[in-house]
Amino acid sequence: MGVGLLRRGRFARPMEPAASEYISSMKDDSVIFHPVVQINIAHTIMLAEQGIISGKEAAAILRALHELHRGGISKLDLRPELEDIHIAVEEFVTKKTGEEIGGKLHTAKSRNDQVATAIRLALRKKLLDLEERLLGLASTLLAQAEKNIDTIMPGYTHLQIAEPTTLSHHLSAYVTAFLRDIERVEHAYELTDTCPMGACAFAGTSFPIDREMVARLLGFKKVGENTMDAVGSRDFALQAMSAAAIAIDNLSRLAEEIILWSSAEFSLIDIPDEFSATSSIMPQKKNPVVAELARAKAAKVIGNLAGALTLVKALPQAYNLDLQELTPLLWNSIDETVSSLEVMAKLVASIKPKREEMLARAKRGFSVATELAANLVREAGISFREAHSVVGRMISMAIASNRTAGELTVEDLKRASHEVIGREITLNPEKLRKALDVENCLASRNVVGGPGPKAIRRQLTALKQRIQTHHKKLWTWRRAVTKAEERLLNEAEGRLR
Ligand code: ARG
Repeated sequence: MGVGLLRRGRFARPMEPAASEYISSMKDDSVIFHPVVQINIAHTIMLAEQGIISGKEAAAILRALHELHRGGISKLDLRPELEDIHIAVEEFVTKKTGEEIGGKLHTAKSRNDQVATAIRLALRKKLLDLEERLLGLASTLLAQAEKNIDTIMPGYTHLQIAEPTTLSHHLSAYVTAFLRDIERVEHAYELTDTCPMGACAFAGTSFPIDREMVARLLGFKKVGENTMDAVGSRDFALQAMSAAAIAIDNLSRLAEEIILWSSAEFSLIDIPDEFSATSSIMPQKKNPVVAELARAKAAKVIGNLAGALTLVKALPQAYNLDLQELTPLLWNSIDETVSSLEVMAKLVASIKPKREEMLARAKRGFSVATELAANLVREAGISFREAHSVVGRMISMAIASNRTAGELTVEDLKRASHEVIGREITLNPEKLRKALDVENCLASRNVVGGPGPKAIRRQLTALKQRIQTHHKKLWTWRRAVTKAEERLLNEAEGRLR
């Protein structure tokens, strides 16, 4: 092949091997193999329809592309000297048809519009996988939440016991967050669903091409408008990486809590053996390794986003080879997030809450203090700030005498109020007992979005409906993508004779 199809005109010598190895994207291009073949098929059909090449020429090219589609990437010569998969595909077709025909395949296109289109085609599917995994995790969390409406646990702020809540409410917080991630992924999908083909190098072409036709054949919603932007922009990829980074950031918080809760110090949940590893030296160890790695993967995905943003930051328009370096970061971000979501959903489904421990912790930690203050406002007619101070003094009295909140008495209330606000406040003992009862406290928290049983049931119903709505959207998009692929292949097969 001498200096190669691409170089023989302009250059006298092949590239220095270390240099060609260095600049080749071949090893990363397997992800876009099928998209590149599909784009070539769609482009060839369009060239024939527009009379730019003949029906016979198109048939020969399509026959080669069809064979490649069937046979897979192993049919290609993937040596780095060919630079990338775009050239490898053209070479394959040229070998099959001869250069007089195969040499027409690259009419009115460039690797610049082709690679941008291929990334978008591959990313569309990966974003649907990502949405599916997010929906899977949200559904699993929701199922756990439904089983734990009356599993009382301590809620924390500053990682200090704050107020009682339920495991259902805590897990629903994550479902709510993951639903926002799902919306971000859908937005990224919509921004990705645009076809750059026909932009060529960046300035379009004088051939009478039909960009709309190629976009339609590839199942894109629309054509990328400005041809310079079509080849030079990767913000759709940045959007997808941001959505993935935020999602795995949320996942990492859940992973961290699972790690904390499973420790002896918290002792709120059990992680089953199937998701634990032990130590090679310490025989007693049960390590929460799955959650630890989900936490670590988040760091990589966040790093990928930082790398990609920085890569694009000072790039002049339109195409620069720097962009080639962004693509593997994109795939890594989506793939790591997808696999982390998948395994974490299985872990979440398997977790066993320690109900008695959770309740005991909630009782031990003075978590009812805020509710007692609210009761004093209602029952004794003092201001909230006064009540806050009185209860604060009662708690410090309990701590000094080594008692729990449940052991506080009306005498404590009288003494504390006298000391702090100079007025003696009292409450009948039954009302004080109720105010200090964790279950009672929760039962009254039915404000919209709250952890009370009525409020949480309303939330769970609403969350379930939202999950279903997104499920429908996901499957509509999936069907559209699959149908477009089938239609394209049928179109091609119809032209082979
Ligand atoms: N391998 C390239 C990439 O992944 C394809 C486009 C190359 N374009 C070029 N003019 N060299 O971005």
